[in-house]
Amino acid sequence: MTQTTEAAISLGEKGLTLPVSNRSAYFNYYWLRDNDPTSFNADTRERSFDIFHLAEAPVAKSASVEGDALVIDWANEDHITRMPLAWLDAYADGTRRPDPADLPRRPWYGDHYPNVARFTHTEVMSDPTKRRAWLEAMIVEGLAVIKDMPDSDEGLTELARVMGQVRPTFFGDYFDVKTHINPTNTAYTASALELHTDTPAEEHAPGIQLLHMRANTVEGGRNLFGDGVAAANDYREIDPEGFRLLAETDVPFFCEHDDYDMRSWQRIIELDQHGEVSGLTFSQHMLDLMDLPQEFLDDWYPAFCRFGKLLQDDKYIMRFTLQAGECIVFDNHRIVHGRAGYTASSGDRYIRGCYTDRAEMRSTYRALVSEGRFKR
Ligand SMILES: [Fe+2]
Repeated sequence: MTQTTEAAISLGEKGLTLPVSNRSAYFNYYWLRDNDPTSFNADTRERSFDIFHLAEAPVAKSASVEGDALVIDWANEDHITRMPLAWLDAYADGTRRPDPADLPRRPWYGDHYPNVARFTHTEVMSDPTKRRAWLEAMIVEGLAVIKDMPDSDEGLTELARVMGQVRPTFFGDYFDVKTHINPTNTAYTASALELHTDTPAEEHAPGIQLLHMRANTVEGGRNLFGDGVAAANDYREIDPEGFRLLAETDVPFFCEHDDYDMRSWQRIIELDQHGEVSGLTFSQHMLDLMDLPQEFLDDWYPAFCRFGKLLQDDKYIMRFTLQAGECIVFDNHRIVHGRAGYTASSGDRYIRGCYTDRAEMRSTYRALVSEGRFKR
C-alpha cells in the first residue's frame, strides 16, 4: 500500500480522490459514508446505518490518512469515518468483490466417468476437508458421485442439507422415479429420456439436483450425463452467430397437466458475469410451442438443432449405470442428463431425487474456505 499524505487527497463536490496502490482513485461520498465500518453491526453482521435519513448529502469537511486508514470528518454530521486503505484498494476499480466460489469451470467430455469426483456419504457428512472437496468439484466440474448412501429416505435429505436446504419444486419436496401406471412425465415411464435439464418451466429452476439410486436391477436404463459448458464452448467456436441466438433469446418452456400449467421463458445457453458459459436450460419435451416471429425462427431453429445435435455427440456424453447405493449430484443448470429405455418387467428401478440451490451451495463453500468480511 502506498503511503498517502493529506496533500495528495483532493476533495470534490460529490467525492474525493486519493492515491491507492500507485493509482489515483475516486470514491463517492455516499459510498464512503454508507460503507464506514461502523455502519455494520458486529453481532448481526448487517448494515445498521440508515443513509436515507441523513439530513443532507454527505460531504467531507476534511480528509487525511492516519496509519492504514483514510480518516474523514464529515461536513454536515458529527461523525468521523475511518475507512481501511485495504478496502479502498479493493473497491477502487468498481469490480466485484473477490468471490472464493467464483472458480473457473473445467469442461469435461464423454470419457470423464473414471475421473468423476467420488466421496462416501460418511466422508461428506463428517469430514470438512472432504465436504470442501465435494463442493469444489460441484463448482468446477458440476457433478460428483456420493457412494455408500444409506438405503433410506433420510440419507438423501442429510446429503442435500450438507450444501443447503431441500428446494421444493411445483411437484413437491422429493420425487420418485419409477414406472407409474398413469405417468404424468416421461421420466415415470420405461421409455428413453432424452438429454435435458430439469423443470425448465419454473421461473427459477433449482440449481442442484440429487438422484439417489435406491434399486437398479433392470435391463437397460443406462444413465447419460453431459457437460453443457463443454458443448456450448465448442459450439461458440463452430457457430458464433447460432451461439449468440441461443444465448440472447428467451424461449418458452411449459409443463402442463390436469391441474397445473407452468410456463417460463429461458435462454438455452446461460452466460455468467464474465460472459463465460455457465450453463444451459435444455429440454425438448418441455419446450413450448415457439411463439416467436416465424421469420426469426428461420435462424433460431437451425441453430437450436445444430447445438442439440452437437450436445448429443458421443464426444460429450458419459454413459454408465448408476448403482444402487450411489447418488449422483449435479448442477441442473449446467449438466444435461437422460436415460436409455429399459425393460420394466426385468427388475426394479427406483430413484429418489430432490434439489437444492446453487447459491446455497456456493454459500456453504465460501463459509468453508474463507472468513468473509467479518473476521474476528
Ligand atoms: Fe430429469
